[in-house]
Amino acid sequence: MALYRKGFSLCQMLLSFCCLLAPVVALELTVSTTGGNHSSPYLYGFMFEDINHSGDGGIHSQLLQNNGFQGSNPNLTAYAAVGNVNLTLDTVNPLSTALPLSLRVAVPAGASGAVGFSNSGYWGIPVNADSYVSAFYIKGDYVGEVTVRLVGASSGTAYATDVFNVTSNSTQFTCIETKFQSAQAPDGNNIWTLTFDAPKVAGNALYFSLIQLYPPTFQGRTNGLKPSIANVLQDMKASFLRFPGGNNMEGNSASSRWKWNETVGPLYTRPGRQGIYRTETVVFLWLIREQGLNEYFQWTKDMDLVAVLGVWDGLSLAQSGNVITGDALKPYIQDALNELEYILGDASTTYGKLRTSHGYPNPWSLTYVEIGNEDHWWYGGPSYAERFTAFHDAIKSKYPNLVIIASTDEYFPVQKPEGIWMDYHSYGPAEKFINEFNKFDNFDRKFPYVVTEYACVSIDGAHLRQPTMQASVAEAIFMIGMERNSDVVRMAAYAPLLQNYGGYTWKNHEPNLVLFNNDPNGVFLTTSYYVQQMFATNRGHTILPVQSDGPFGPVYYVASKASSKYYVKLANYGSSTQQIQVKIEGTNSGLLTVLSGNAGAANTFGSMPVLPRTTPVVPTSGAFDIVLPGWTVAVLAAHMKGQ
Ligand SMILES: *[C@@H]1O[C@H](CO)[C@@H](O)[C@H](O)[C@H]1NC(C)=O
Ligand SMILES: *[C@@H]1O[C@H](CO)[C@@H](O)[C@H](O)[C@H]1NC(C)=O
Ligand SMILES: *[C@@H]1O[C@H](CO)[C@@H](O)[C@H](O)[C@H]1NC(C)=O
Ligand SMILES: *[C@@H]1O[C@H](CO)[C@@H](O)[C@H](O)[C@H]1NC(C)=O
Ligand SMILES: *[C@@H]1O[C@H](CO)[C@@H](O)[C@H](O)[C@H]1NC(C)=O
Ligand SMILES: *[C@@H]1O[C@H](CO)[C@@H](O)[C@H](O)[C@H]1NC(C)=O
Ligand SMILES: *[C@@H]1O[C@H](CO)[C@@H](O)[C@H](O)[C@H]1NC(C)=O
Repeated sequence: MALYRKGFSLCQMLLSFCCLLAPVVALELTVSTTGGNHSSPYLYGFMFEDINHSGDGGIHSQLLQNNGFQGSNPNLTAYAAVGNVNLTLDTVNPLSTALPLSLRVAVPAGASGAVGFSNSGYWGIPVNADSYVSAFYIKGDYVGEVTVRLVGASSGTAYATDVFNVTSNSTQFTCIETKFQSAQAPDGNNIWTLTFDAPKVAGNALYFSLIQLYPPTFQGRTNGLKPSIANVLQDMKASFLRFPGGNNMEGNSASSRWKWNETVGPLYTRPGRQGIYRTETVVFLWLIREQGLNEYFQWTKDMDLVAVLGVWDGLSLAQSGNVITGDALKPYIQDALNELEYILGDASTTYGKLRTSHGYPNPWSLTYVEIGNEDHWWYGGPSYAERFTAFHDAIKSKYPNLVIIASTDEYFPVQKPEGIWMDYHSYGPAEKFINEFNKFDNFDRKFPYVVTEYACVSIDGAHLRQPTMQASVAEAIFMIGMERNSDVVRMAAYAPLLQNYGGYTWKNHEPNLVLFNNDPNGVFLTTSYYVQQMFATNRGHTILPVQSDGPFGPVYYVASKASSKYYVKLANYGSSTQQIQVKIEGTNSGLLTVLSGNAGAANTFGSMPVLPRTTPVVPTSGAFDIVLPGWTVAVLAAHMKGQ
């Protein structure tokens, strides 16, 4: 039953009583077609960091796991022998200083047939009717045929078989690249195999390193993004990308921080790096660094996103509280300046020249640089003003046009440097997002904010495995609050972005925006993804004043316009249906997109019961009548027909 909240006169009570069977209008909204503040064009974007195999094994297109044998305790994870061979890790035949280990495939004397090894990918390999590129380095005396296959792990069915001749010797590694067509596999339970002619190697061994497999990549980029995931991100119509973290950029210590210079150049020169999150078995994830600085910028370019680059500022996740300050910080400030020169410098500069030599002659586009990540945490707070100021001043003196973002608004000197922006992150229960609806209403307009991480992670004390409809409505209300204040809140992004089905444990994980596995159509969009998409694809340039006959809650709203189009975003945080009337002068038609479900309804691996539905709507007697079922997020896009 709808709430009746148009004042409390006896007359109205009688009216509501006598009209009990007719729909009761809970709220009348009149959208002003003039006035209001400019809206930030960057509201709604992505925060990305390579955690839980969201990059390595996720959006990055390379499909074979452990392909550089990296880590503090490297082993043969994901590899298995094919036929009668002995696989070991070899230190005598390194591919490069960055990749000191190779795979030794020893063939016993007298062996016959085809032998080799397999790689099981990141909990399987997506095998589709696509053209694949596979590459590897081989060392050892061999002249003859090599076969690469994509094979069903249980069925043994080969979906792709590529046979080619290889000439390899024992003095140097030879790089081999091959391209082949695959048939469609029914599921993601597939492996990659490489075999060769056993008698030609019997009693001896071959060495392999940097084994790679790529499907067609997003926009055809070398070492690019996996289209199945990149496409749904593109469909979200986001406007910025924050990278490379987050906690992932901070690292567990200064030496294991994200180092830009170890993520650029040819793949065999990239040493990889320890990921930050422990798995349940207290083993660190290792990342091969295939997704480096240039790959991130290529991503921003290909999806038309504004880059928000994080730089390391002395704070790591070390629990000891070792924060680098004072003179000891200087080399790291210089490192950030070098990185900026690599990104922005022309070929006459040291690092601009280095970028050019890596195949990127043009400087990248960069305006926003964030100093550190969540510096109010992990013992970072007391020294942040000093560290921020040191980075800020050094960067601004060389690049006055860059906008510098502080990673927190706490621990600042009384006098904030002019022109800075600040980052605020919000994770928590649903109520937190309702309470923060008006958080920014009275903020000082002089210092813009970004909210580059937020997510509703629990309901009634229960941790969420993925967003539920109630959680997504709570986030929508927070987003409505940000949009209403988007003269001060310039950017906002849900986090974390991606979740690999194989790469997390049930016991310890957060809800994520997009979930995926290796199956055909193995990308699952959560209710929160759809909220992001509905908000990002219906953006106005100006936030309009709205006259309402009731307070906010359980229905929240914001209105905007872009030339002759009007947008009204609505959220109903409650289980009761709400009837709304929306008046927008000069509009006579519209589209209403509704995302609705029970409080606990969720889209998850293998099942997406909650989908947005768009229907045409027309106003009757000057108002759009909108029914908001319980737990709903809706967007009305209205205009004058023919305009
Ligand atoms: C515009 O911003 C001011 C604060 O600077 C605020 O008081 C006002 O409500 C905003 N107007 C709209 C339509 O959001
Ligand atoms: C190899 O190392 C990984 C990660 O370090 C670990 O999870 C796995 O159990 C190890 N495998 C073997 C066969 O030792
Ligand atoms: C495989 O290699 C290991 C380590 O070099 C060795 O101990 C083992 O005997 C070998 N096994 C076979 C079947 O060659
Ligand atoms: C490999 O080379 C041999 C010898 O020249 C030739 O007979 C064979 O057809 C070649 N195989 C392929 C797949 O090209
Ligand atoms: C061995 O292989 C490397 C890499 O393919 C090649 O450059 C070199 O000339 C080869 N050496 C001999 C002796 O064939
Ligand atoms: C990258 O730069 C850091 C200094 O910030 C240096 O310690 C490290 O050795 C460099 N890595 C490589 C591979 O040159
Ligand atoms: C995955 O990332 C989250 C942060 O979002 C972290 O809390 C969690 O421990 C990670 N899980 C695993 C299995 O690494």
